[in-house]
Amino acid sequence: MIICRSISEIRAAVKALRENGTIGLVTTMGALHAGHMALVQAAVQDNDSVVATIFVNPTQFGNPDDLENYPRTEQEDLDALREAGTAAVFIPTKQEMYPKGDQTIVETTQLANVLHGKVRPGHFRGVATVVTKLFNIVGADSAYFGKKDYQQLAVIRRMVEDLHMNIRIKGIDTVREDDGLALSSRNVRLTAAHRAVAPILNRALTDAASLLKSGATVEAAQSMIRETIDAEPLADLKAIDIVKADSFEPASGTAKGTLGMMISAQFGEVLLIDQREVTL
Ligand code: PAF
Repeated sequence: MIICRSISEIRAAVKALRENGTIGLVTTMGALHAGHMALVQAAVQDNDSVVATIFVNPTQFGNPDDLENYPRTEQEDLDALREAGTAAVFIPTKQEMYPKGDQTIVETTQLANVLHGKVRPGHFRGVATVVTKLFNIVGADSAYFGKKDYQQLAVIRRMVEDLHMNIRIKGIDTVREDDGLALSSRNVRLTAAHRAVAPILNRALTDAASLLKSGATVEAAQSMIRETIDAEPLADLKAIDIVKADSFEPASGTAKGTLGMMISAQFGEVLLIDQREVTL
């Protein structure tokens, strides 16, 4: 596995890999867990070579403490990527990604500012900007993103379509702990008490999906999620949104088709998100 820390190094590595055929890209902020490895496995399966990136992107963090405390486990990450069959890893510095005097941002104007974007202003602009840079640097055929970051996936799909980017985006199912908690690099920062109650997000979403399937309205499902999470004193519900999966417009009434349900809640210092799709 080739480890590249500069843009010129990764471009040279990708040029050589191109000789073997297609390239799949997995972008990460490191602190890799089974959820990331599911993306790598899917990329390995679909492509001749896989390139991964590790970059804790400062422009997608609203809170400097959150950025500083984000877990960094480079050696373990490299071991896991090597074992999974990754061909090259790009680990740039902030200076490499954001050249001095940089002025250019990428923003999906509506999608970035609704739903979770309201709770985390500027977050999706940071994501879209860094993902554009990574797509331009690597030049892969396909890129793999977790469905857990449901709105992020929608932002990236929109951006790729709007900017005519020549890359296929693949959404991969959320990987969960045995008790249902969605895997996230943030989970290690939960206290034992918060970790014990965090699966409530998945429970609320699962119950809401059953309620919707039984013919209840979107509003009833939303109220049920709110009541379930509000009943847990260690969880502070920040946002709950149920949207039409194809358009990301808010769903209402007795809906049909595929809906995306997204919630975010604060557990002490840690903001967790979760999602579930339900087809009615
Ligand atoms: O999902 C993530 O880990 C990040 O948002 C991403 C896509 C790597 C951009 O920094």
